[in-house]
Amino acid sequence: MNILDILENIILKGKIYIPRWVINSAAYYVVPGVLLVLYIFTSSTNDLNGDLGEIAKNLLLFVLLVKPASVIFRRIGLLRTIVGYRRQLGITTFYFALFHFLFYTAEVGLAPPTVFTAVLTDVGANMWYGALGLLGMVVLYVTSNKIAQKNLGKWWKRIQRISYLVLPLILIHAELMEGHGYASATGLITLFALTKGVEWFILGQRKKARLQKLAPDV
Ligand code: HEM
Repeated sequence: MNILDILENIILKGKIYIPRWVINSAAYYVVPGVLLVLYIFTSSTNDLNGDLGEIAKNLLLFVLLVKPASVIFRRIGLLRTIVGYRRQLGITTFYFALFHFLFYTAEVGLAPPTVFTAVLTDVGANMWYGALGLLGMVVLYVTSNKIAQKNLGKWWKRIQRISYLVLPLILIHAELMEGHGYASATGLITLFALTKGVEWFILGQRKKARLQKLAPDV
């Protein structure tokens, strides 16, 4: 098999050559393990806080954009494969967000619950949006496992939609912390909403076409 065949397999057919257990181990154990070790040994001496926040925000965007991208770019099988790994990606996102917060608490030298309560009650402040976003992410994390999925039934999907509230909160927090202001955050949120709109429109059109094929005279 030459390199072009391999690329075709990966990009168009979505065959990623990485066993599922490797991806699961990375998401569930390696990432939190490495972050925990860094936190224990270096949190008071480095300023990773901003970088971890940036990674968390980008991962969150990626997790939420991959589904619309897979619908819009239907021929790219790799996107569909990644859609199947959103649980692992979401969990990884949560760990980066959590440690972004924990590194900040180490920086200011206060206990995490003290900082969280202070930030959460400072309604409308730049960090308040981050705290609210993190709270939403905790709910998503706690309910992300298969047991919760089974027990929550139809509520599970509804709860997962919290992610569409978390994203604007995080974008506002990030843009404000980076000094870009509300206008920049609103622009990004609008772009995201438009992408979702295109996804729903395409899905609607495909559904219509399928129904027409099944019952052409209706
Ligand atoms: C209670 C929760 C949170 C607190 C106290 C907090 C605090 C902070 C602080 C102090 C900064 C400035 C960092 C710096 O400039 O070095 C920051 C920036 C940022 N935070 Fe948060 N944050 C919280 C939640 C979150 C969450 C949940 C996310 C993402 C999922 C996030 C993403 C970001 C991003 C992207 C930045 C900009 C980083 C940069 O300037 O490079 N934050 N946050």
